[in-house]
Amino acid sequence: MTETFDAVDVIITKRDGGRLSDGQIDWVIDAYTRGSVADEQMAALAMAIVLRGMEPDELSRWTAAMIASGERLDLREITRPTTDKHSTGGVGDKITLPLAPLVAACGAAVPQLSGRGLGHTGGTLDKLESIPGWRASLSNEQFVRQLQEVGAVVCAAGSGLAPADRKLYALRDVTATVESIPLIASSIMSKKIAEGSSALVLDVKVGTGAFMKTEANARELAEAMVGLGTAHGVRTVALLTDMSTPLGRTAGNALEVAESIEVLAGGGPPDVVELTLALAHEMLAAVGLGDVDAAAALRDGRAMDVWRRMIAAQGGDPDAALPAAREKHVVTAPATGVLTRLDALAVGVAAWRLGAGRAQQGEAVSAGAGVVLLAKPGDRVRAGEALLELHADEPDRFARAVAALDGGFDIDESGAATVPTVTTIIDRVG
Ligand code: URA
Repeated sequence: MTETFDAVDVIITKRDGGRLSDGQIDWVIDAYTRGSVADEQMAALAMAIVLRGMEPDELSRWTAAMIASGERLDLREITRPTTDKHSTGGVGDKITLPLAPLVAACGAAVPQLSGRGLGHTGGTLDKLESIPGWRASLSNEQFVRQLQEVGAVVCAAGSGLAPADRKLYALRDVTATVESIPLIASSIMSKKIAEGSSALVLDVKVGTGAFMKTEANARELAEAMVGLGTAHGVRTVALLTDMSTPLGRTAGNALEVAESIEVLAGGGPPDVVELTLALAHEMLAAVGLGDVDAAAALRDGRAMDVWRRMIAAQGGDPDAALPAAREKHVVTAPATGVLTRLDALAVGVAAWRLGAGRAQQGEAVSAGAGVVLLAKPGDRVRAGEALLELHADEPDRFARAVAALDGGFDIDESGAATVPTVTTIIDRVG
């Protein structure tokens, strides 16, 4: 086949700081997906984008081309309004688990295509797979039927959705080209727009445990993603939320499922409840259901009912005991005082080293492994008292997990420090 453009010319345009033309963008994404543009050429282009950036309309066209590389799900037959959320990823971020059934219990439909964890951040599918029998893969027909019948579905994205991103993301991962706001924004939004939801709420994490370490970068990413969603006809808003300390009291697959069930039963840690309700409100407001009292649906068990149906619809047993790790190791407080800092990245890396995450795509994860936080910033602790509980199947994992926690927390021995316990939501964009 005769190609319309030449990959080297496209790379030169961006390398020299130019704007890619619509024709160049459409061609390079299509040709890369077909295999006519080589990985090394796409890697050079990605690096040029990292260094030179993209204009807003250029980014919009790039995202449209990524969406057009595959199918866009058609959810028009769903009788309830569709609304979804996406988190840029953090430590202990189990919010999807209580949120999807909660929003469904309030009258909307939640079509959520999720991913697996890589590195220190956990993946929603890995968490749900710790429930005996639950399966992540559904056909498009099963996805639409469950969405209509139960109101919530969390499953793996099929290979037909934004295949250009699947290929490009794997390439970026090994060519130091992940950290680019236009590339991250187009990667996330191409998948979310292709999913077909009419509204989308983005939870953009800021802090040590997040992709975006500063509020300024997180805001720029949030604005880029809100702009893309809006340009493609999806009502999109973003919350900037804190990820300097883990969310809730657990990081690890089955441990986070158990904590989510506590939230669905009307309890759970205040920061998880606060963020779940704030995101539920945004998701509902985006589809005209902003007056619905989501807190009532948590209190009276309606959200729990949908959870049970959602898990059972994908083969899971909502009453089965969750797997537990074979071994435990306690990390104690070295001093008496106020815990002023417990670093999200340190806890995330510890959970990962305990077996909760994977180092390479395709590896199995341990369902029971992870970290339980027995104290949170703001709590008073006594020297020798248990601070963190580490769970693993193999005891030889503990030493490296403990090493990850070295320097990961501070205790104010004067005891005078006060730390607000719930500081999750920083701002709203859109
Ligand atoms: N998640 C994605 O899906 N893509 C990125 O580029 C970064 C995070």
